[in-house]
Amino acid sequence: MAVRRLAPKEKQPTSFAFTAENLEWAKAQIAKYPPGRQQSAVIPILWRVQEQHEGWVSEVAIRAVADLLGMPYIRVLEIATFYTMFQLEPVGKKAHVQVCGTTPCMLRGSKDLIEVCKSRIHHDPFHVSADGNFSWEEVECLGACVNAPMVMIWKDTYEDLTAESFGKVLDGFASGNPPKPGSQTGRQFAAPAGGPTTLKTSGDAS
Ligand code: FES
Repeated sequence: MAVRRLAPKEKQPTSFAFTAENLEWAKAQIAKYPPGRQQSAVIPILWRVQEQHEGWVSEVAIRAVADLLGMPYIRVLEIATFYTMFQLEPVGKKAHVQVCGTTPCMLRGSKDLIEVCKSRIHHDPFHVSADGNFSWEEVECLGACVNAPMVMIWKDTYEDLTAESFGKVLDGFASGNPPKPGSQTGRQFAAPAGGPTTLKTSGDAS
């Protein structure tokens, strides 16, 4: 995994403020924990900050979260740099694509998906496309191996992909009309790819 550092100074905004709605939401998360344990809310609050801030977490935002939770800045920085779910550099405005490259997805064609990213978004990961709308990276297993290969975009996974169907997923995000998450072949959740194989008649259930 690449070294995870904060974005360079020239990319960092100079200020961050929670929206009123997000501040209220953050306070409700903090209230779920007993006195002295408010720090337990740090990950959901960082995630909400990332959503508010166009998909990435800046240094001033990390400081704002630390101030809200009464934590040393370094503790929140450690969390933001440890978990790859937090983006430390600006990402594509319409989609940041995380392509799973771990063994099951690799055996089922993730390299083809990466080629699509290279040709349609940018040759290199963590670089925003020329129009500013897309970026990509390769990640480790995202827990949907049964429907490999797959990608995650924001909170959702798109599964059972081919280069062609992945291209359609990107087209959907580009036009502001993303496809339904989950399998892109129409299979239900992780049911057998060719349809049900058991319990097909009432007699099977007895
Ligand atoms: S190996 Fe790709 S989701 Fe697990």
